[in-house]
Amino acid sequence: MATPEIIEAFQRAGQGHVFAFHDELDAAARERLLADAAEIDLAEIARLHKTLVAGNASFAASLDGLTPAPYEPLPEHGGDPAAWAAAKTAGETALRAGRVAAFVVAGGQGTRLGYDGPKGTYPVTPLRKKTLFQVFAEKIRAAGLRYGKPIHWFIMTSHANHAATEKFFRDNNHFGLSPARVHLFRQGRMPAVDLQGKILLETKSTIAMSPDGHGGSLRALQRSGALDIMQREGIDTLSYFQVDNPLIRIIDPAFIGWHHLRHSEMSSKMIPKAYAGEKIGHFCMQNNRLIVIEYSDLPVAMQRETDPAGKLRYIAGSIAIHILDTNFIRRMAAGGPGVELPFHRADKKIPAIDAAGNPVKPVKPNGVKFEMFVFDAVPHAKNSVIIETLRANDFSPVKNAEGLDSPKTCREDQLRQFARWLNASDAAIETDPTGLPKPVIEVSPLFGYDEDSFTESWTRLPAKPTITDGLYLE
Ligand code: UTP
Repeated sequence: MATPEIIEAFQRAGQGHVFAFHDELDAAARERLLADAAEIDLAEIARLHKTLVAGNASFAASLDGLTPAPYEPLPEHGGDPAAWAAAKTAGETALRAGRVAAFVVAGGQGTRLGYDGPKGTYPVTPLRKKTLFQVFAEKIRAAGLRYGKPIHWFIMTSHANHAATEKFFRDNNHFGLSPARVHLFRQGRMPAVDLQGKILLETKSTIAMSPDGHGGSLRALQRSGALDIMQREGIDTLSYFQVDNPLIRIIDPAFIGWHHLRHSEMSSKMIPKAYAGEKIGHFCMQNNRLIVIEYSDLPVAMQRETDPAGKLRYIAGSIAIHILDTNFIRRMAAGGPGVELPFHRADKKIPAIDAAGNPVKPVKPNGVKFEMFVFDAVPHAKNSVIIETLRANDFSPVKNAEGLDSPKTCREDQLRQFARWLNASDAAIETDPTGLPKPVIEVSPLFGYDEDSFTESWTRLPAKPTITDGLYLE
C-alpha cells in the first residue's frame, strides 16, 4: 500500500491517531512508522477488540465435559517396556534418515528474568557458565554425530533480539555447528491496544508492538521459508522446545518414535504435577479432543481432585515440549475457519505516549497485548500422543531471577542430573538427600547429553577421573 492509502486505511478503522504526528516526523521516522503500520492486520485488531477487549473477556476455556487426558506412562510407572523399546528404535531410524530437526522458540521478552539480552545468551551451567544456546548447540551436535546425520536447528527470534542473536552465533562460530544448518528467523508482532481498542504509540514514530507469542511460531515457520528448507532437506519432524530449559532432551528417540508409530501430527511430553497447585498447564480431554487448560483456567477444586488411590486426577502437566509434523504446521499456518490459533489477552503496563505526544509511564495496566500459544494447536492435531517423562530428565526452566525456576534451581538440577548419570555408571558420587552432589562438576553435552550417551562415553574412558570439585567431562 502507498503511504496515503495506509493512512486512510487506519483512519477508516478508527486508528487514524497512529499518524497524529506524521507531519512533524523526518523522512526516516516516517518510514519507520509506516513499516510498523504495514505489519498490522487492521481487521484482525478490530475482531480482537470486539471479542477480547470490548467485552472485557479473557480467553477462558469452557470446562464442559472435561476429563483428564490419557498418556503413555514410563515403563517404571506401569508402561509397556516393549512399546517404549519399539518407539526408541523407530525414533533412531528416523534420526539416521535425517528426518528430524530441532526447533527452539527464542522470541520471548524474558521480563521475569530481567536479563539484558536474548535469553539464549544467558549463562547457565554450573562450572563453565555455558550459555543456553551453547548447551543446546552441543546437544544437537552430539546427537548428529551419534546418529550419523548432522541435525538442522531452527531458531525463532523476535524483532527485538534477532540481530543480537545472529551476532552471538557468528561470534561463537555457531558452537561448532555448520552455519548452513543453523536457521534463524523472526516471529511476527502484534500491536498493543489501550482499553478502548486504540493502537498504542510507543513514540511519535513507533507503534507499541510485541512478539505474537510462541504460537506465532507456526505461521512464522511458514512465512519465513523455514518449512521450504525442511522440505528440501527431507525433514518432516520438528522437535520443539523453549529457550529457557537446558535440561531438555532435544533429541529423544523414544519421543520421536511414539510420534511416528502413532502417526501423530503433534505429540507432547507430560510430567506428573508435583502438587495440585503447581502452575503448569493441564492436558485434558473434551469432546474427544485433547486440549491444554492453563492452570489459571482450571478451578482449584478440580486441580485438587484425586482418584480412589489418592493420585491427582488432573496429573498430566504440560511442559512445552512437543514433536510436530511439518505438514501439520503447514495446515495450521494456512489458517482458515476453525483452524486458526486463538489470541489470548494479557493486560500489561505498556510504555506509550499520550495524545499530546508526552511519554506515559503507567503504574497499572493501561493496555492489552495479544499472544498465541503453541499448545492451542494440540486439539487440531490428528492422533495426538502424550508420553510421560521424568521432570529430572527434561525440565528445569530459568524463568525468574530468584526463587522457583531460577538460575539457582536450574544449576542444581543440572548437577543432580550429572550425579545421576555418574551413579548409573560405575562411578559413585556422594549426594545429599535431594540428589545434589557435593562436588561441583559439569558434563559437556559432547560427552553425554542423556543417560545412554553418557554411559557409553564413560565406559569408553581408558582411565576414570577422580570425581572432585571442578571436574569437567568433555
Ligand atoms: P515465556 O512464557 O516464559 O515468556 O516463554 P518470556 O517472554 O520468555 O518470559 P517473560 O514471561 O517475559 O518472563 C516461553 C518460551 O516461549 C518463547 C520464549 O522465548 C520461551 O522460549 N516465546 C514466548 C517466543 O518465542 N515468542 C513469544 O512471543 C513469547
